[in-house]
Formats: sequence, C-alpha cells, structure tokens
Amino acid sequence: TVRERLLNEVSHDTDTKTKTKVTIVGIGQVGMACAVSILQQHIANEVALVDVDKNKLMGEVMDLQHGSLFLKTSKIMGDTDYAVTAGSKLCVVTAGVRQQEGESRLNLVQRNVGVFKHIIPPLVKHSPDTMILVVSNPVDILTWVAWKLSGLPSSRVLGSGTNLDSARFRFLMGEKLHLNPTSVHGLIIGEHGDSSVPVWSGTNVAGVSMATLNPQLVHKKGDKSEDEGEAASWNKIHHDVVHSAYEVIKLKGYTSWAIGMSVASLTHSLLWNLRTVHAVSTNVQGLHDIKEEVFLSVPCALGSSGVCAVLKQPLSEGEKAKLNESAHTLWGVQKDLKM
Ligand code: NAI
Ligand code: 2OP
Repeated sequence: TVRERLLNEVSHDTDTKTKTKVTIVGIGQVGMACAVSILQQHIANEVALVDVDKNKLMGEVMDLQHGSLFLKTSKIMGDTDYAVTAGSKLCVVTAGVRQQEGESRLNLVQRNVGVFKHIIPPLVKHSPDTMILVVSNPVDILTWVAWKLSGLPSSRVLGSGTNLDSARFRFLMGEKLHLNPTSVHGLIIGEHGDSSVPVWSGTNVAGVSMATLNPQLVHKKGDKSEDEGEAASWNKIHHDVVHSAYEVIKLKGYTSWAIGMSVASLTHSLLWNLRTVHAVSTNVQGLHDIKEEVFLSVPCALGSSGVCAVLKQPLSEGEKAKLNESAHTLWGVQKDLKM
C-alpha cells in the first residue's frame, strides 16, 4: 500500500500513562461549548463524546474532526456505546433536560436523576479511575447523585458549582470598578443558583479588602448612611448574578459559552494537576456546621486526584447562616429523590 511504501513503522504507541483523555456526555449546547473550549485550549490529548442522539453525535464528531488541523488533540471520537470512553481521566456530564424560560434548576431534578442512572455506571465501568465533573442541573444535587451511583471516593466526583457564578460576579464587579475581572477577587459559594452566597468578607483587589473600604458590605447597620446606600448597589451585583442565567435563557434559550469556558478552566486544573483554587461543588457535611450530606460549592484546590484540599475559608456569621440555609434547601429536595 502507499502507507507501507511511505512509512517504516518502528514502534507502536502503547503509552496510556501520558494520555489525558476527557469524555463529555451530552452534546447539546453545553456539552459542545465545553468540547470546543477544551479543544481550543489544548487541554486534553483525546476527547470522546457520548449522547443518545446518534445522528447529531456523529455530525458533531465529524465537524470537530475536520478542525483537527487547527488543534493539538490526537484523537476526537464519539459513540452511543460507552466503550468509546475507556481510559478517561475525566468525564464531564452535561446530559439531561435544561430549564425552560422562568423555570428553576431544582425543577429538573427527578428527570435528570433518571438520565444519570443510564450514564454514571457505564462511565465508571469503562474508566474505574476517572474523575467525574457534573454540569447538568441542578448541579449540586446531581453531583451527590453521581457520587452515590459511581461508588467513587467523593474527592473524585465534583460539580462545576459556583465557579460560573463567581466568574459572573467578578465580571460585574470589574465593570463597576473599571478593572479587568482577573484583578477583582471574590467568590460566590453555596448552591449554584438561587440561594448562592457572595463572600463579601473576602472580596478584594490586590489584597485591598472591599469590606474594609465599606464595612456595611458585611455588617448591615441599617443607619441609612452613604455607606449603606453603596453597599446596596454592590449587593445588587449578586442579585444580577443570580438572575443572569434566567436573563440569558429568556434572550437566547439556554446558556452555553461561559459554562463551556468555566468547565475548560476546571478541566485544565484537574488534568494538569495545577492545584488552583476554584469554587466547586463538593461534599460539605461537617464544614461550617453543615449537618446534612449535601454537595455545595466552597473553595477547593483541584488536581489530578480531584478535590485535593478544601479551604478553611473564614465566613461572617451571616454568610455561614446563608450557607446552612442552602444546605437545608438542597437536603429538602434530595431526601425525597427516587434513585
Ligand atoms: P441540550 O438540550 O442542548 O442538550 C442535552 C443533551 O443531553 C442532548 O444532546 C441529549 O440528547 C442529551 N441526553 C439526554 N439524555 C441522555 C442520556 N441518557 N445519555 C446521553 N445523553 C443524553 O441542553 P444543554 O443546554 O446542553 O444543557 C444541558 C444541561 O446543562 C442542563 O441540565 C442545563 O440546565 C445544564 N447547565 C448547567 C450549567 C451549570 O452552570 N452547571 C450551565 C448551563 C446549563
Ligand atoms: C447557568 O447558570 C442555567 O445553570 C445554568 O447558566
């Protein structure tokens, strides 16, 4: 053959240790935004896609493969059969139903538990050492579900959580301060969505604490002072973060690009063992006085074993109380789930 006349094969590539394979389950708007972000940032050297819609799946796989010239990923593959996922270091789960206009994330839960029962066991069967990153909503409860269905250590099952909410928060604070979001530090923790908690006590620019500049951000005095008026305008930023997904869904039907970029950033930390700190959904039982077995976002260092460390973040009494409220809300839904 031409191939035989051209190439004298001297070794066969059997190296699986250096393989950084990522599987993405669900190739809808979110799954494809994750795939494109991961591919364009050259984070993984193999990417596998899985979905139940075979035609759409093969179309997306071929379309991405045709871009291989511009990427640094040696293999892009896809199948409805989970054998294609074998040897994954990380499986990103984006499959399931999404919110309609005005619908809450929590409303999706039982339908997406049904979807997860078909997805998590075969993923673990083919990649017993994988980490799982859950994106489907409601992400915190589904991360707990994925953990239960997988039998993996909880450090290896995490949810994208409030990494996205924190990015929205930093973007909006940056707009107000006329600074780049990378220079504005602050985290949103707790539930991804409606009951999330902004940690004003920790927001800072170059180490200059915003709460020192305006103490009413943390301790409301109710004294109608200028500081109180300004604190309300900063709190509106958190309100806008909570409502931003509803707004984008109303305008374009779904959210995709920001979550895709946020997942690529988490994938980078996990696969390259970077130990960078992100707010992601992890088992928080026992932390900040939380009694329930729930997953919520707190700052975590991420590396090749998943969640490597959880930060002991000092919180104000108010922030701790709000985090506990999130835990109660989630447990209220979680305890009645049919698994
Ligand atoms: P979509 O409807 O565009 O795509 C969902 C995909 O899942 C479809 O391709 C469908 O065929 C596939 N699917 C359904 N059941 C499956 C199964 N059993 N196995 C494999 N694939 C299956 O939805 P979209 O917009 O991509 O959203 C996906 C999920 O991501 C939703 O739950 C949405 O709420 C969530 N989401 C989460 C975000 C976060 O920050 N955590 C941000 C944005 C969306
Ligand atoms: C988002 O926040 C809908 O959870 C999705 O974009």
